Amino acid sequence: MRDLGYRVIDMLVEHTRDLRQKPVTQSRDKATLTSLFGEPPPEVGEDLDALLKTANEGIFGNVMYVNHPRFFAFAPGPSNFVSAMADALASGFNVFSGISLEGSAAAQIEETVIDWLRQICGLPESAGGVLVSGGSMANLTALAAARKAALGDEWHNATIYFSDQTHSSIARAASILGFRAKQLRRIPSDEGFRIQSDLLRRTVGRDRRDGLHPFCVVANAGTINTGAVDPLADIASLCKDERMWFHIDGAFGAPAMLTEEGRALLWGLERADSLSLDPHKWLFQPFDIGCVLVRDRGRLKETFQVLPEYLEVAMSAGDGINFCDFGPELTRRFRALKLWMSIKAFGLESFRRAVEVGLENARFAESQLRAHDCWEILTPANLGVVTFRYQPRDLPESELNNLNLSICRRCLSTGFSMVMTTELRNKTALRLCTINPRTTKEDISETIRHLERDAISVTHALATC
Ligand SMILES: Cc1ncc(COP(=O)(O)O)c(C=O)c1O
Repeated sequence: MRDLGYRVIDMLVEHTRDLRQKPVTQSRDKATLTSLFGEPPPEVGEDLDALLKTANEGIFGNVMYVNHPRFFAFAPGPSNFVSAMADALASGFNVFSGISLEGSAAAQIEETVIDWLRQICGLPESAGGVLVSGGSMANLTALAAARKAALGDEWHNATIYFSDQTHSSIARAASILGFRAKQLRRIPSDEGFRIQSDLLRRTVGRDRRDGLHPFCVVANAGTINTGAVDPLADIASLCKDERMWFHIDGAFGAPAMLTEEGRALLWGLERADSLSLDPHKWLFQPFDIGCVLVRDRGRLKETFQVLPEYLEVAMSAGDGINFCDFGPELTRRFRALKLWMSIKAFGLESFRRAVEVGLENARFAESQLRAHDCWEILTPANLGVVTFRYQPRDLPESELNNLNLSICRRCLSTGFSMVMTTELRNKTALRLCTINPRTTKEDISETIRHLERDAISVTHALATC
């Protein structure tokens, strides 16, 4: 056991040490991987040395490194080593975190970290929540609570509102919960990609006059596309006036509440009825850990509590929280340990500084891009995200989307950095998300230099074909 453990740690330490020198984006085609791994289950066990070698080279050599300092796509997963070791402990002890009888101290640690998150986000003491796998599950859990609280078992006339920049997990959650497409209202966003709150208010009013039942608004505390924050305080007032549930998707952006700048940007967050946030994004935890906070924690229990006969004694033993009552999972891993251990080990001060680095790095990227005429900024640095496109002077608008897609593909194939596109009002945008605190200014300027080189060769190739 020790020998295996030491070798695993060595693998991780060497990987971390060499990470900056490695390409970010290695992946293999399906045929190669099938030839490597597509085999029947072995009847007889294999030597662990050989197995570790296969894992190190064949598996971990063929994945992208989302914690690489030059991984700028989607939401990077910077992670941290203390939490990775905490995950090893949680798995090693195989703690069951569904009912407090089986994991009383684990339930307490979960309650404690959830309360820390509540305090960071400024929600009242009545709020509580549960740790889940990520933002998608957090949104699903919150919307299930919203549906139960606002609609009981009758939701066929109900309508739910969110901006056209809202993460796809919201529409998916609504669909899983039985809402049809015509019950979802996608409200156009303004030039800053924030929901148009006047239009939202008018749409709610019109739906009410038409005999529908507007019951929930989902606002963004940092969209994945551009980091845009909806006008949270306005929406909170609208929800109060209209007696609607106010859910905030802060899966990406809510951890910015640790910083002064974030608190100013996210003003109104504390008025949410429910809030999703993802420690596995901007709180630097390894996958997976998401969190849903609900202003009145009893709402979660009303939605999810069930009492099967075989758990009756177990569920009523002791006075700790049975977290299986707060969400859809009964068997739950001990996700809280990593967040607890890393906050204890580094202190909130370090987390705050690490979030600030992400905010500053996006501004630095923007300034580097602005220094060259060929880049057009589409949205300025906002919550660690900047979007832009290559725009040589003599190229017509109709060719820019293809050009920028090709730049992205080329960047993907070289592997120096990981930069993806998104679409903003029919414009293909390149996007940098700079939340990894180990990203240096040099990583950013080198990435932009490489993108410029990619852009020049793509432009040249397009002109000559
Ligand atoms: C704003 C937002 N909400 C929800 C999600 C979904 O989170 P997860 O991938 O953890 O399920 C994401 C993922 O990037 C996101 O950015």
